Amino acid sequence: MDVYKDQSQSYEKRCADLLQRMTLEEKVGQMMQLPANFDNNMDKLESMNIGSYLHCTGDMMRELQTRAEKTRLGIPLIFGIDAIHGHCFDNRATVFPTQLGVSCSWNRDLIREMGAVTAREVRANGIHWTFSPVLCVGRDARWGRVDETFGEDPWLIGEMAAEMVEGYQGKEGFANWEKILACGKHYAAYGEADGGRDAYEADVSRRNMLTYFLPPFEKIVKDGCATLMAGYQAINGEPCSASRWLLRDQAKESWDLDGFIVTDWDNIGSLHTKQKVAEDLKEAAYIAVTAGNDMIMTTPSFYKHTIELVKEGRLDESMINDSVRRILMAKFRLGLFDEYRHTSPEREAAALGREDHWEAAAQASRESLVLLKNEGILPLKPGAVKTITLVGANADDVVAQLGDWSFGSMQAGASDDSFHRDVTVTLLAGLKERAEREGITVNFVKGADPLDENLDECDQAAAAAREADLTVACVGDTLKLHGEFHDRANLDLTGKQQKLLEAVKAAGTPLCVVLLASKPLTVPWIKENADALVCAFNPGAKAGEGIAEVLFGDLNPMGKLTISFPHHAGQIPVHYNRFSGWHSMNDPAMPGEERYIDMPEEPLFVFGEGMGFSPFSYADLKVSKSVLQQGEDLEVSVSVKNEGDYDGWEIVQLYINDQFSSLTTPVKELRGFKRVYIRSGETVTVDLTLPFEELSLINADLQRVVEPGRFDIMVGASSRDEDLLKTVIRVE
Ligand code: BGC
Repeated sequence: MDVYKDQSQSYEKRCADLLQRMTLEEKVGQMMQLPANFDNNMDKLESMNIGSYLHCTGDMMRELQTRAEKTRLGIPLIFGIDAIHGHCFDNRATVFPTQLGVSCSWNRDLIREMGAVTAREVRANGIHWTFSPVLCVGRDARWGRVDETFGEDPWLIGEMAAEMVEGYQGKEGFANWEKILACGKHYAAYGEADGGRDAYEADVSRRNMLTYFLPPFEKIVKDGCATLMAGYQAINGEPCSASRWLLRDQAKESWDLDGFIVTDWDNIGSLHTKQKVAEDLKEAAYIAVTAGNDMIMTTPSFYKHTIELVKEGRLDESMINDSVRRILMAKFRLGLFDEYRHTSPEREAAALGREDHWEAAAQASRESLVLLKNEGILPLKPGAVKTITLVGANADDVVAQLGDWSFGSMQAGASDDSFHRDVTVTLLAGLKERAEREGITVNFVKGADPLDENLDECDQAAAAAREADLTVACVGDTLKLHGEFHDRANLDLTGKQQKLLEAVKAAGTPLCVVLLASKPLTVPWIKENADALVCAFNPGAKAGEGIAEVLFGDLNPMGKLTISFPHHAGQIPVHYNRFSGWHSMNDPAMPGEERYIDMPEEPLFVFGEGMGFSPFSYADLKVSKSVLQQGEDLEVSVSVKNEGDYDGWEIVQLYINDQFSSLTTPVKELRGFKRVYIRSGETVTVDLTLPFEELSLINADLQRVVEPGRFDIMVGASSRDEDLLKTVIRVE
């Protein structure tokens, strides 16, 4: 038997055997990835020896895999898909909140579970690889893809991404019907493009790359994440896919990436057509290989040109061999050469949309909700409310609720909202169901829609609000207002939504706003005028139940923001980990020392903020040592008391500040957190460990060091100074 087919041999031996049998054409073909659904790309399987397809499910996928089996060496295909908040492109599958939504849970176990559920459904479906998680840093809400991030903090992103990767991949290998390859993307600093312009240019110093944008990737690669995807944009003039420094020096050499790197969509073509760093597509292929890209997504010309470049002696075949070895090893590890190649309809039917999967998704929906304001109206008092008026089109809009990378999104090519419709509980459905159990009537008047300038039922909504004991207004954004190719310069409410809010407010009935949006919008009016505000970032299919549970007090809200809200788009960036050097008059006549003359300095809502129905108080911040020697970890503890009537979860946050350093460092940086469940009236002691290296910075020589000196250790309920207890330690 051929060694590569012999299951008793190691994967390494089988891979080496296969590689030496392959022609140059077969090898370069393994580096090719094409979308199956257009350009007759299915026909290229044999003529280009294609190694991978994306955007391909069902019969198409089965046909391709069977045809691949019949090729000379029978090398299986690897299929990739954007299953980034559940396996959303299959109508039978479970849909979770987006990454931004679920990040507000700060719940590691839940995020890992979301990955595990997604992996089980994707794999049962015959797909092996998801282009997730997204490790972009969400610092500019104008950017169309903020919903895909875990928020604005690089440290938290690394922690959450690591959980998700573990959920997708597990720890026991991929020859397993429940596990898939993860892909950390978009490598790196993709969210940093100027002005929130998607895939544009980013000006990021090496020091900032090493300080903020690479650490989350480094963490997941060192934990075993199988693949990375290179970003679209150029950094300091160098497109990510042309960067040897990013791909080879950092990922492959410094962090020892064991898997492979895929480009983003036609990154290699763009080197010539858009970014113009390659004179022609052949030059682009040369740059792609030398920089260290292994798999080339959607650039068909790469095939022909790379073969020519090797034949002409311009490209050394050993570079091709290295990429192909990485890709083949992934296929061996997935068991694709063995019994894990073809799934079965029974396996699919058993895994997709399993009951426990939906329970996990419903829990994720609940935990993603963030209560940002409550002037005593929530939870509703039994008997006090007989009629609720619900307004706002987002209260009954599946696409707005599920968000991007689900069936409504452009990549799925489905423009209607019938997908996942049956399994989605909108706010209208959830609220009606819950209210009717109490004998409460819910009247729904659309009022306004984020996309429709002409929908103006504000008068009808105000009239209905006058008849009610509570108005719930569901406003926000929807697809077409975010996602790829949908950046915004203005983050105000669209359509007649602002007019709607003002009209129902004027009715005088207590007003609870549900902000159902993909990302922070500029809503100072809501903060000022609503009696309660629940933030729901694309909260998943079952969110209507969870929001209703919050209103009725069945669920004590527990989420906290992982991203700051600006007052106005002109205030961006407003992320919490900023610097202290902004000129200030220090004038007592200017309360709050506002630095903008026309707007507050602080964001509208801050990173880490969110409340439940019980307030928590913090006391007794203690540290194990006041002086740390190099290399010593610090133990930190604090007592947290539940001062209210509701049992609930608190997210205790630990921040540091290097008081004086050789180069500037942010005023505070998150370095730890713990979720704790505290019963009404109870006090618990929360222990956190601060590993020594968490005090480090990148110095002028681009080395990571902990500099001696004083550090503030801050623990509390949010990133706001008033919410933090502080003590000072010294590092020798
Ligand atoms: C996106 C990626 C995605 C890829 C494949 C690109 O346009 O930037 O995030 O994985 O398409 O769908």
